Amino acid sequence: MKVAVVGGGSTYTPELVDGFARLREMLPIEELWLVDPDASRLELVSGLSRRIFSRAGHPGQIRTTSSVEAGVSDADVVLLQLRVGGQAARHGDETFPHEACCVGQETTGPGGFAKALRTVPVVLHIAEIIREKAKPNAWIIDFTNPVGIVTRALLQAGHRAVGLCNVAIGFQRRFAALLGADYSSISLNHVGLNHLTWELGVNLKTDGGSVNVLPRILGEHLEEVAREVQLPPALLSLQQAVPSYYLRYFYAHDEVLRGQLSQPSRAQAVMEVEDALLKKYADPALDIKPEELSLRGGAFYSEAAVDLMSSLISGRGDVQVVNVRNDGTLPFLPDDHVIEVPAVIRPGGLTVPPIGTIPEEIAGLISHVASYERLALDAALHGGRERVLRAMLAHPLVGQFDKAEKLTDALLAANRDHLAWA
Ligand code: G6P
Ligand code: MN
Repeated sequence: MKVAVVGGGSTYTPELVDGFARLREMLPIEELWLVDPDASRLELVSGLSRRIFSRAGHPGQIRTTSSVEAGVSDADVVLLQLRVGGQAARHGDETFPHEACCVGQETTGPGGFAKALRTVPVVLHIAEIIREKAKPNAWIIDFTNPVGIVTRALLQAGHRAVGLCNVAIGFQRRFAALLGADYSSISLNHVGLNHLTWELGVNLKTDGGSVNVLPRILGEHLEEVAREVQLPPALLSLQQAVPSYYLRYFYAHDEVLRGQLSQPSRAQAVMEVEDALLKKYADPALDIKPEELSLRGGAFYSEAAVDLMSSLISGRGDVQVVNVRNDGTLPFLPDDHVIEVPAVIRPGGLTVPPIGTIPEEIAGLISHVASYERLALDAALHGGRERVLRAMLAHPLVGQFDKAEKLTDALLAANRDHLAWA
């Protein structure tokens, strides 16, 4: 099979390639194409990627190109992991919201909105090339943030796409470790929108069936789990759920903002990590993914990608957490909204098993953010200050009109070079 990675020059790529190499029984890759406009990065990243394949005895060919057409031609699967404007634009997303006392984050709040506006048109353009050049049944796996909005844009345009994030697989692995169980015996009642999710149940498969061990996890490991998602233990107890780390931008907004104001941005930190990584990648003796890669946030992202790709291709019919059309799963959201939930993965498509009742305050926040996401996609597709302002006002972290106006102006000023209509 042929796999193409758009944004293949990312410093994350060796993580992915390491997964392809380790799990090659699951995924018979013959050709891996790394597509990126940055030739020097492509050279460094592909060099290390080839050495990782060769060390593992992986027979696949790794090719590079700056041409999306060439890269995706006849591909079976295309992974999207691009970042329009690079870390510089991300730094903007993480700082312009501060002008209105709002948290700065690359996927959440006004920063995530800016990223959506920059990214959706680029991804849709690439997807049209995929439609034309890739195999007729090719799948698009979207890692590009904001994953919920980008995946909905792809599905609405009729593409065969599924959105993926590593938050759920991270919890699965973490809970398994806490319980001393194998991760394959753990499944999650994971629900919400991408980067706005809660674990409402943790099912442990035993000889006698499946038991929900979330009460046990919250009973025995409350402090530890709360510390890891950086939220108060009392909140997890109250909700009888584990919110993802991204919920701290809501539940601990002012505290996070205070911290951000006295620290470099995540983009600045990542730029330093990337400089160090690229220097390592240039070393012809290096043939494993370097330790420093764990300083990035992408833990288990290669496992998630390999699991998903292999089930989409070979049809194991297993359950994985993905970003898919709602279609009634969350009755309080429109059918065409994209939600992040466990789904049965088959080559023909994805089916979402029913989900139990969702606590009122969780459903409320999901609905609120979903409304913002719908308005944000409308603004990304059609442009215009007024559409941006409506979506900004609709975001629960903004709400007030003067703040929304200020943030709209700041967003447009910071992103003019990336927005054709601004
Ligand atoms: C997690 C999220 C990704 C995000 C990444 C950021 O993995 O699920 O969606 O892109 O963190 O990591 P970084 O190292 O760029 O801050
Ligand atoms: Mn993610």
